[in-house]
Amino acid sequence: MNSELKSSSFLKEAQAKAAGTDTSTMPAPGFPATRLRRNRQADWSRRLMQENTLSSSDFIWPIFLADGENTRTAVPSMPGVDRLSINLAVAAAAEAAELGIPVIALFPYTDPSLRTEDAAEALNPQNLVCQATRAIKEQVPGIGVWCDVALDPYTSHGHDGLMAGGEILNDETLEVLIAQARVQVEAGCDIIAPSDMMDGRIGAIRAALEADGHRNTIIISYSSKYASGFYAPFRDAVGSSNTLKGDKRTYQMDPANTDEALREVALDIAEGADMVMVKPGMPYLDVVRRVKDTFALPTIAYQVSGEYSMLMAAAENGWLDGDKVWMESLMAFKRAGADGILTYYALAAAKRLKSGS
Ligand code: PBG
Repeated sequence: MNSELKSSSFLKEAQAKAAGTDTSTMPAPGFPATRLRRNRQADWSRRLMQENTLSSSDFIWPIFLADGENTRTAVPSMPGVDRLSINLAVAAAAEAAELGIPVIALFPYTDPSLRTEDAAEALNPQNLVCQATRAIKEQVPGIGVWCDVALDPYTSHGHDGLMAGGEILNDETLEVLIAQARVQVEAGCDIIAPSDMMDGRIGAIRAALEADGHRNTIIISYSSKYASGFYAPFRDAVGSSNTLKGDKRTYQMDPANTDEALREVALDIAEGADMVMVKPGMPYLDVVRRVKDTFALPTIAYQVSGEYSMLMAAAENGWLDGDKVWMESLMAFKRAGADGILTYYALAAAKRLKSGS
């Protein structure tokens, strides 16, 4: 060991720190005084120094809804994920609540005959999401219900907004989104989650809810939502893969940008968002960290359908050890600064945490 190097660098750093001239580095003696493996030697010492933890309170579990009674339809591109009829969704919510999951997010598979240019079904107080919200709030009062605000499960063209001449209309769409949020809140929804990426939607919805006296409705904005290829299995699940014309790059963000994500978040906070979200998740952990460090507000990450399907496919083929990579992927969100994780794996993860595996 080079003692000169050790003492000089250690001392300099310590002195600089004491003098307040250098706060960037921690004084650190070199090897062998410092052996980082000491703390890693046993399960008890590893547990003691663990910096981040996962618990079932971190999860938001998305559920796909479909018509029927006691029906469950597999989504082939998402192994282990089914579309559920409302009564089965209520049972699933009860199971989630029992495991300590705080929130479920509802996404509908709308019958193709109900998909129209104007997305009228989104405003129907008897649509799948509103019916399921009422049933869950009545039968499982302890769980939070999150409803997505966007028109894509209801439009004949699969876009999140109204379309005219190939253009997605911003301000005209806002009026419909306000009406969609209203029927969901009236059905009992606790969290309104606009995922449409129209400009001004958070402020417009917040103003409408305040005017209606819905002061306690939480708005979680999909603030930095990227135009991503990782949403493909979700579009299978809600049935918009075949209907979608073109792509969503005129409203969702360019995957090359992060400064723009901060502008989106800043605007949403100013417009009245209570929490913000980054989506997709794992390929965008740098964005999660920047948002959390910059704004210090509740930040949710969405581990999207494509991320789920990739891990599931590899695990099912024996290419990855699913037991290891699932919990590792979820911990990565906590490490990046996420306060909550929306994941299709939530129920399985909560079960594993409960059983200690
Ligand atoms: C729709 C919406 C999408 C997702 C959540 N809400 C798809 C899209 O924007 O095309 C994707 C979720 C996932 O892939 O798991 N506004």
